[in-house]
Amino acid sequence: ARKIIIDTDPGQDDAGAIMLAAASPELEVLALTAVAGNVPLELTKRNARLILDICGRSDIPVYAGAEKPLKRDLVTAEEVHGKTGIDGVEIYEPPVPLADGHAVDFIIEAIRDNEKGAITLCPLGPLTNIAMALQKAPDIAGRIGEIVLMGGGFFEGGNITPAAEFNIYVDPEAAEIVFASGIKITMMPLDVTHKALTRKDRIGRLRANGGKPAGIMADMLEYFERFDEQKYGTDGGPLHDPTVIAYLLKPELFSGRECNVEIETKSELTLGMTVIDWWRVTGRKRNAMVIRDIDDEGFFDLFIERLSRL
Ligand code: BDR
Ligand code: CA
Repeated sequence: ARKIIIDTDPGQDDAGAIMLAAASPELEVLALTAVAGNVPLELTKRNARLILDICGRSDIPVYAGAEKPLKRDLVTAEEVHGKTGIDGVEIYEPPVPLADGHAVDFIIEAIRDNEKGAITLCPLGPLTNIAMALQKAPDIAGRIGEIVLMGGGFFEGGNITPAAEFNIYVDPEAAEIVFASGIKITMMPLDVTHKALTRKDRIGRLRANGGKPAGIMADMLEYFERFDEQKYGTDGGPLHDPTVIAYLLKPELFSGRECNVEIETKSELTLGMTVIDWWRVTGRKRNAMVIRDIDDEGFFDLFIERLSRL
């Protein structure tokens, strides 16, 4: 099985990604590392454990990471995810406690202790923990197999400002460090996730086919899509983070191209924008595989089938 670490700020869609990974034997989830993002760390580190408990996968450890971005104050997204970050699910204190130690140290040690290239990082929130690990231990850059992340946007624009997507906007300095690291990066921007809509018929299929965890996911998606339906006028909301895990399982569902991606960290107007050289008009180094299209039917078939196994 492919070894992954999921860095996350749950988030209903993060929860979907965690469940998809937990249900898939092709993946060995070494740990979840929590980061502040959609809601403060206090909640994301609890939510991560709660989701694993719901899946019956509390064997996967959860480490707490950064409480705030590298250089900025935290910006959260309660208006999208609710006060708890995962509104739609019944909240309780999960029985299994956090693992000892800081998420950043766990990431560094796991990468050093495993064979070169063995670990894939899957960041689903602001890139603070990943950037901190790279800063603290630059030697790990050459040992990370790949980073597959949700973040950014180009033709689709942004979702927190007209120019920026939330994960990149919250910690643009961290994103800059990651994109300049030389590590193989695959990115799922809003251009992809806005094509993966949680339509009513899809949520209905998830509920009908699955057991309790799938039902809880359906509840969360119903909460989540309320916001998006109002906002985007679409049938259902975009299911962002599970695209990262789906890419690991079935890359043939996705297409994109290798481009140069730079992060705007200075301009007030376009802070956190992912400047993607899709048409290759600069000579700048191609540093990321930028995904633009998704077979959304195939994606939801996979999502529903896997979650139904839990
Ligand atoms: C990203 O921001 C969060 O609200 C979601 O969990 C996703 O990771 C989408 O912009
Ligand atoms: Ca997220």
